[in-house]
Amino acid sequence: MKYLIANWKANLNSDQVATFCRSWQDLLQTQPLALDKQVIVLPSSIFYQSLCAAKRQFAVGLQDISCFDGGAHTGEVTITNLVNLVPKYVLIGHSERRRDYGETNQQVVRKAKLLWQLGSVPIICFDLPELPELAKLMQPFLSHPAIMAYEPVSAISTSGGAGNLPPEQLREIIAQVRPHFADYPLIYGGSVKAANASLYSQIVDGLLVGSASLQAESFYHITQAF
Ligand code: PGA
Repeated sequence: MKYLIANWKANLNSDQVATFCRSWQDLLQTQPLALDKQVIVLPSSIFYQSLCAAKRQFAVGLQDISCFDGGAHTGEVTITNLVNLVPKYVLIGHSERRRDYGETNQQVVRKAKLLWQLGSVPIICFDLPELPELAKLMQPFLSHPAIMAYEPVSAISTSGGAGNLPPEQLREIIAQVRPHFADYPLIYGGSVKAANASLYSQIVDGLLVGSASLQAESFYHITQAF
């Protein structure tokens, strides 16, 4: 299976979400997606339920989960809240959460354990500096489902960094990462666009897309190109 994941971050209002869904439907009518492609959209959590209810043809997940399981933690979204909603996929450990909220690998693995308890699949983000510790912490849990997302911070489109990783460089890094997570799909994120998506299709099992996923058309072209 190939995973094409839209990370909308804190973008889009309810009208824009509705426009995305309408355009997505129209685009799929012109050419449906191949059956080996799983598209997952990660909206702001306030749109999770309405997107699930919409006629949409993609899986809907969340961008994060609390590392507390419920109770007196104002503002958090916990597994207690999600017991009857159970998102199939939840992103954790994104570099923006590590940067803005000081999230650690220990917290990320705690979140993964809560998600396994809930019955969800964590999509676990990391950059190379996190890899040794994350791989060690994950070691006892490798029989649980997960998708691993390699995202070099400097490649994220809004980081002011270098832009997308050259495919040869990604190939070398993936060869280094794969042995740690041999049974997991391994995906790449960082300035992915329709123009570069196909370059990665022989190297990784999917893509995590930020800015270029905010409009149905550009995300659709990425999903077709990969
Ligand atoms: P980008 O973001 O595609 O805008 O670089 C990717 C991400 O941060 O998940």
